[in-house]
Amino acid sequence: MASPSDSPNGVTVVQHPLVSHKITMLRDETTNSAAFRSLCQEITLLTAYEALRHLPTELVPVRTPVAETRSPMLTGLAPAVVGILRAGLVMVEAILTLVPHGRVGHLGLYRDPDTHQPVEYYRKFPEQIDQRDVILVDPMLATGGSATHALDILTEAGCSNIKMLSIIGCPEGVAAIHAKHPNVHITLAALDERLNDKAYIVPGLGDAGDRIYGTK
Ligand code: PRP
Ligand code: URA
Repeated sequence: MASPSDSPNGVTVVQHPLVSHKITMLRDETTNSAAFRSLCQEITLLTAYEALRHLPTELVPVRTPVAETRSPMLTGLAPAVVGILRAGLVMVEAILTLVPHGRVGHLGLYRDPDTHQPVEYYRKFPEQIDQRDVILVDPMLATGGSATHALDILTEAGCSNIKMLSIIGCPEGVAAIHAKHPNVHITLAALDERLNDKAYIVPGLGDAGDRIYGTK
C-alpha cells in the first residue's frame, strides 16, 4: 500500500498534520516576516526528510558502549543544495542543519513583472556539481519558469541526479517542469489549485521573497 507521501507521477506532496498546520500559518496574511522565515525553515526540515530519502548510504563499522556493529552513514561526494535567490536562501539554511557537510550553489533569478519569465543575475556552483546529488530549493513553484531555467542550467552543467523541493506548487508549475525534465522528482508541502492572471499561486501565500525579507 502506498504511504501518504508516495507518488506515482513524479510529485510527492508530504501529508502530515504538522506540515499542514504550518502551511496554514504561512498562508495567513497577518504572519510577520520573522515568523514567516521560521515557518519556511520548519516546513523545509519536515519535507526535506522526504526529499532526501534517496541519498546513498554504506555500512560502516562503529563501536558503541555495548558492542561493535556496522551501521549506515551517508556515502559519496557531499550533496549540493542549490537555492534559487532570493527566497530559496531560507530553505538552504534549513537543509544545511540536516546535511551540514553539504555544498551550496546559488542561482539568482527574478521573474520579470510583465512577462513572468525568469531573469538570471547570479550563478555560483560548488566544484564537481555534476557528480553530486543535487537538491534544488525554492519555496514557490508557480509557472515553473524559474525552476525549469535552473534545471536547464544544472543539466547543462552535467548534473544527472537532481531533486526539486518547494513549499507550495501548483499543477501548471509541475507540468512545466515535467514537460522538459520528466525525471526530476518534485517534493511539495502543498499542491494548490491554480495560477491567477498575475501568475501568482491561488490560494498560495503571496510573494514569498517579499514576505521573507519584508520588502514590497
Ligand atoms: C519567486 C519564487 C520563485 C519564482 C516562482 O521568486 O521564489 O523563484 O517566483 O515563480 P515561477 O515558477 O513563475 O518562475 P521571485 O521572482 O519573486 O524573486 P525573489 O525570490 O527575488 O522575490
Ligand atoms: N512567486 C511567489 O513568490 N508567489 C507566487 O504565488 C508566485 C510566484
